[in-house]
Amino acid sequence: MSYIKKLLLFTAFIVAMSVFYFIYAYTQFPPLPERETLLEETGEALGEAGLWLLIFIYGRTTMKILLGQGSIARRLLPEYSSPVNMPVLNQLLAWLNRTHVYFGITAVVVILMHIILMGLPMHILFFPAVLGLVLWQAIFGIFLSWRYSPKELKQFSYLVHAQFVSGIMIGVFAYFGHLLIDD
Ligand code: HEM
Repeated sequence: MSYIKKLLLFTAFIVAMSVFYFIYAYTQFPPLPERETLLEETGEALGEAGLWLLIFIYGRTTMKILLGQGSIARRLLPEYSSPVNMPVLNQLLAWLNRTHVYFGITAVVVILMHIILMGLPMHILFFPAVLGLVLWQAIFGIFLSWRYSPKELKQFSYLVHAQFVSGIMIGVFAYFGHLLIDD
């Protein structure tokens, strides 16, 4: 089975499990009220910023795939060679590659601030799961870019950081979790 098919199947599985859990949580737990304090309003704005940062980060990954660069592109589409050869796009991608660490750290900090300001409803498992996955990306991203990481740790970190699986789960869990919040 191709890698893309596996990813689609994985996404369908995660969505199906999330729908089941959503129905359970919706019927078992009272709706989470939205408070309108200044801190919560700031927290909301940070949540939106975090979403845009994640879209931006995975935008780079999508661009790398479309330009046929990097190991994810080779794994996803082994036969593919990019029909576009625009130096501007390659320059933009080189800049995105150089700055990923900074955008990555910003995304993690912004999402953590969002969670701190909004509160973490631990009983709804979507939320601790998203927190764990964001910390996962952060920890292995740091090992990946830290120059003193041993080679094996770097290889392992690349495997578990540079992939779509955690991104898919972050997106699906965060979406269904937010559906449980009253607004
Ligand atoms: C929520 C935050 C993050 C997400 C969603 C994320 C996602 C990704 C993805 C999908 C890749 C591989 C595909 C690609 O090249 O675009 C990647 C590569 C990489 N990430 Fe992250 N990342 C995050 C945070 C970080 C942080 C905090 C660091 C370092 C402190 C980091 C360092 C790296 C490095 C060194 C690579 C491999 C080299 C490269 O492709 O540029 N990432 N990241």
